[in-house]
Amino acid sequence: MAIIQTKERLHIEYLLNPKADTDDGRDVIMGLSQTPKTLPFWYFYDQKGSQLFEQICTLPEYYPTRTETVILQAYAKEIGRITGACELVELGSGSSTKTRLLLDAYQELGYPLRYVPIDVSSSILEASAQQLLIDYPELKVNGLVATYQLGLNQLTPKILPGIMIFFLGSSLGNFTQEKSDRFFAQITTALTSGDYFLLGIDLQKSPAILAAAYNDSQGITAAFNLNLLAHLNWRFRGNFDLSLFEHQAKYNQIAGQIEMYLAAKKSHSVHLEKLDFTVNFEAGETILTEISRKFNLQQMEQYLETKGLKVRQLFTDSQQWFALLLCELI
Ligand code: AVI
Repeated sequence: MAIIQTKERLHIEYLLNPKADTDDGRDVIMGLSQTPKTLPFWYFYDQKGSQLFEQICTLPEYYPTRTETVILQAYAKEIGRITGACELVELGSGSSTKTRLLLDAYQELGYPLRYVPIDVSSSILEASAQQLLIDYPELKVNGLVATYQLGLNQLTPKILPGIMIFFLGSSLGNFTQEKSDRFFAQITTALTSGDYFLLGIDLQKSPAILAAAYNDSQGITAAFNLNLLAHLNWRFRGNFDLSLFEHQAKYNQIAGQIEMYLAAKKSHSVHLEKLDFTVNFEAGETILTEISRKFNLQQMEQYLETKGLKVRQLFTDSQQWFALLLCELI
């Protein structure tokens, strides 16, 4: 049996000090003190939440993952032909499942394979990097356990002629306009002229299809939403009673976004011991836990141009439900 050496092809830098960056909970106090109440969506992604999200991606109603996969399967090679050999930098790499389609294409094109996954979860990054190194014997991985911002600031000098940063799954949709503007300032600072950015976005479509994707019949999205409260309970020694909240997801047609809420079923108080913070809920009062913006292709193209990113090629599915935009920094 051949033994595949992965050690010298793997380098991971740990840029997060989890205690200092994420445990202070000021964002929770701020969000729950506002009217209407909000909570930052990143609290979805503890270990259980990440597993629930993986399950969401396979649900019949949740079309984005499989649609983006179909697009990548069809066009990964064309993307590779346009970018030429380059380093592949993935933001929020997670399980790196879709990445394999790009790696396969770049391998078939005879390019050297260099992959830079950036993710806040060290366990998922380490596990997926190990598996990739086994499956791609020519691959070199330089992972960064970091937020997007820290990771982008820390990109090492390139070995290959250029880079392509990719941001898939329409994660951009979870950013407010303001956060999106800040995000693109970081992206364009990290790239140099002639580098590429590949963006996956969910497109506007019938409200019924959108609503179903966030109100699935098996209740997995509801469990994912409620798990945010369980996460706050363990992280901040809280006493949220999950049975006193209900999952709601609505499509706001004017804003062009899905809005996910947790609604209190009756009036009650919750205490978060570690934060020395108590919050009161009225019956029916909601917490906004996530927005998921649905985009218009032309508007997105124009927006990217204002950021200095020229769309070189657009890829979409037969129903125009999802799109990949391959942009070049000019
Ligand atoms: C990660 N993000 C793009 C997902 C979305 O569709 O906005 C998160 C999600 N929330 C509920 N279902 C999926």
